[in-house]
Amino acid sequence: MEIIKTISEMHSWAAGHRKNGRRIAFVPTMGALHEGHLSLSREARLRANRLVLSIYVNPTQFGPKEDLTRYPRDTENDLKKAKEMKTDAVFLPNDEQMYPKGYQTYVSVEELTKYLCGPARPGHFRGVATVVLKLFNIVMPHVAIFGEKDYQQLAVIRRMVHDLNLPIEIVGMPIIRESDGLAMSSRNRYLSSEERKAALSISRALTRAEMLLRGKKCDIKSILSAVHETIYAAKMVHIDYVKLCDPLTLEDLTTLRLPALLAIAAFVGPTRLIDNIILK
Ligand code: PAJ
Repeated sequence: MEIIKTISEMHSWAAGHRKNGRRIAFVPTMGALHEGHLSLSREARLRANRLVLSIYVNPTQFGPKEDLTRYPRDTENDLKKAKEMKTDAVFLPNDEQMYPKGYQTYVSVEELTKYLCGPARPGHFRGVATVVLKLFNIVMPHVAIFGEKDYQQLAVIRRMVHDLNLPIEIVGMPIIRESDGLAMSSRNRYLSSEERKAALSISRALTRAEMLLRGKKCDIKSILSAVHETIYAAKMVHIDYVKLCDPLTLEDLTTLRLPALLAIAAFVGPTRLIDNIILK
């Protein structure tokens, strides 16, 4: 496994493999790797004969009051896991490589970012779209794999790739959960054992909504109030939003039509967690 720290080296690695007719799959991450990330790598292996994983905690997607400095960094362990996944190259740039002095170009996906996490995290998706486009230009993959855990992020990237005519296939993969239902996230490391127990109410609320939908009489109001009720039963959780929306435009639904995206963002103590389900 090669560990590549500079853009020029990554470029020539990718160009070399492309020239030799290899297909490159790419999994971008911010590290603190868990089974969710590894499921993307596994899929990537099936779709190409070279796998690149990037580990970069991207400062432009964090707000001034967010957890950039606290974000878990565990490169040594990450490299071990990447090796076990038979990753061919890990791209590990630093801030000077990615945003040198004088940097001033950003990508903004206008509509999809008005919903869900957009208002609560101004500038977040601009940072994500920018870094992902930069990483695409550096790694030059044929296919890139993302998780549906960050549903809005995946929608934003699909839109950007379509709108900017990037010749890259985007693949979305299902949410990987702990055995008790909690969606895996690098941020779960912040949770105390009490908070972790409370955080389970988020996935429980999604399952409850799914069950309700199987019943006969069900509308948006009853689904949303069941979700609120389930989450507020866990005292430590503070809801940021609960939305039932169109899975393509992310606009709020006014009448229930399926498939629908049920998306939740909630604070458990100071930690902001997101989760979602597609109701069918
Ligand atoms: P990060 O949070 O490290 O996630 C990297 C990838 O793993 C994303 O595509 C995310 O959706 C996926 N992922 C995380 N948890 C998952 C889970 N439980 N199940 C399935 N997939 C999961 O998302 C980012 O980093 C960054 O915004 C990035 C795209 C790297 C740009 O900086």
